[in-house]
Amino acid sequence: MDVLDSLFLIIRLLNKDKRIFMHGKRVADIACAIAKKMQYCAEGIRQVRLAAFFHDIGKIEAPEQILNKPSALNKKEIAILRRHPESGYRLLEFLKPDSIIAEVALQHHERLDGSGYPFSLRVKDINPVARIIAVADVVDTMTSPQVYRPASTVDQALQEIKQNSGLLYDVKVVDAALAVIAGGGKLKKFNEALKEGVRENENIGYSGQSAQK
Ligand SMILES: [Fe+2]
Repeated sequence: MDVLDSLFLIIRLLNKDKRIFMHGKRVADIACAIAKKMQYCAEGIRQVRLAAFFHDIGKIEAPEQILNKPSALNKKEIAILRRHPESGYRLLEFLKPDSIIAEVALQHHERLDGSGYPFSLRVKDINPVARIIAVADVVDTMTSPQVYRPASTVDQALQEIKQNSGLLYDVKVVDAALAVIAGGGKLKKFNEALKEGVRENENIGYSGQSAQK
């Protein structure tokens, strides 16, 4: 991994929007706990962490008025925001030769039934790591306060992934997520922060219209 290129990207991200940076960090924690539960090897977990941290990097190219809009986005704005997986893929191109990080950024909004974007991929065409990030992303997005809505509870987020297990989300990933989140463990800090409302005080939710954005 090119350290300098990565560093420049992280600095651009922090300058653009600290919430996206914090979202990436939390999604990385959740995704790693899921991967560990799924018996990923150490190198696999390292790739999951990096892919999770960078999954939304493409949002640094989205207009600030869209990222910070305090109300629901209109169709045109949604279309613009939905370019972020492809922007992320381009920004992470320098990592492509030896990693799946760019591919995961491109695919993290794809869903098993083909209802995702940008390519409406189905089940086997979606990288397994992207399927992990998809679940971790939804859990963190739902439980983070947004500029236009308060945070959902952890139970509501777990309900969302449970209801759509096998439809939108990978069954094995959902089972692992339910085990690590409901069971605390690695995600103890995540759950404690939710309980204490720490993240609301930090105002580090990220913009997106729903769990599916
Ligand atoms: Fe995203």
